[in-house]
Amino acid sequence: MIRIAIDGPAGSGKSTMAKIIANKLKINYLDSGALYRIIGYYCVKNNIDLEDKKSIKDILPQIKIDLKDHKYFLNDEEISEQIRNAESGNYASMVAKVPEVREKINQILRTMSQEMSTVIDGRDIGTVVIPDAEIKIFLTASVEERAKRRYDELSEKGKKVDYKSILEQIIFRDKADSSRSIAPLKPAEEAIKINTTNMDIEEVTKKIIEIIKEKN
Ligand code: C5P
Repeated sequence: MIRIAIDGPAGSGKSTMAKIIANKLKINYLDSGALYRIIGYYCVKNNIDLEDKKSIKDILPQIKIDLKDHKYFLNDEEISEQIRNAESGNYASMVAKVPEVREKINQILRTMSQEMSTVIDGRDIGTVVIPDAEIKIFLTASVEERAKRRYDELSEKGKKVDYKSILEQIIFRDKADSSRSIAPLKPAEEAIKINTTNMDIEEVTKKIIEIIKEKN
């Protein structure tokens, strides 16, 4: 049984790496950000003011999240694609400040990662969700490089995107995620930090696999 926590800011390559590593090791992959995105999405759909922590807390019992074959379901409706845009990232960042939202998501993540070996990516996996994870990695990259990656990723999917607004959204989320009082974005003390600004996907994969081999 192995639990691998991959944390880092938006666009640092966490989810790309987490998927590759999970595939290589044939273990499960959990995208914790998707769960925050689902709650943000549901709140907006139901006209909840994202600054209103009490209303967000009160609506939580209405939200049922399921994950099957890497697809995300909100109250039995599949919404994997709908939560992938930049706005959903911002909504997620806002609901992520509510302690009860974090508790609900942490419980889901802990339950799922107890059952089988898992790679989880997020902001607080190594610090809060699974502090006893066997491997903790913290990925970083310059903000310009992260915005460029997001831009390329969305353009490749055929989406109309503007580099400057992506850069601004990433700066906004970095600030919100690092400065919040509850579970802020920061590396766990024992996390191995990798700056991926000048690395390609293969180099980062190689590095992470080396770290896992060394530790096991
Ligand atoms: O990783 P992703 O960009 O999908 O995450 C969306 C937002 O959800 C982040 O900007 C952050 O505010 C929040 N989040 C979090 N803790 C996590 C994962 C995501 O607060 N473990």
